[in-house]
Amino acid sequence: MAVRKIIRMGHPALRRVARELQVEEIGSDEIHRLVADMIDTLHDYGGIGLAAPQVNEPVRLAIIEISGSQTRYGDVDSLPLTVFVNPTIEILNSATCGYWEGCLSVPGLRGFVERPQHIKVTSRNLRGEEQNHELEGFLATVFQHEFDHLDGKLYIDHITDSTKLVFETEYERYVLPEEED
Ligand code: NI
Repeated sequence: MAVRKIIRMGHPALRRVARELQVEEIGSDEIHRLVADMIDTLHDYGGIGLAAPQVNEPVRLAIIEISGSQTRYGDVDSLPLTVFVNPTIEILNSATCGYWEGCLSVPGLRGFVERPQHIKVTSRNLRGEEQNHELEGFLATVFQHEFDHLDGKLYIDHITDSTKLVFETEYERYVLPEEED
């Protein structure tokens, strides 16, 4: 296992559509090593989600791990470490809610993005078995953020009000106190 380098906005690989994994590939040593490295990398950088393209591997695979209140996103629902291979999204309710998103590939910034808050995700686990997750609220946002990486998109593409793209330090100093009022 190893910590990989996370590529940053401007690297062309972040803008490419990743390819699906063949079911027989999912059980390969190579993919298991990639996932182990992605977990190490996520823990080392201190994030809640990571998609394979962020470590310059152009495959449709993402991990999410949210341990309750300990995140830099405040008090949120938790999700044990989950691997999503070849995910697809079905929007169960198109009503949106906004969050101040951040991204390990766009370090130091936060941006306000509105997304649907109730989705169903169909994917495969590391054994190649189909799995379904119904995600709501912040978890739905986190998943859609990671899913975007598989399609070469970044959260900043969804920002409709450019005054709501700010540095993290200023977010903590000016935006957060207002949100907490
Ligand atoms: Ni990201």
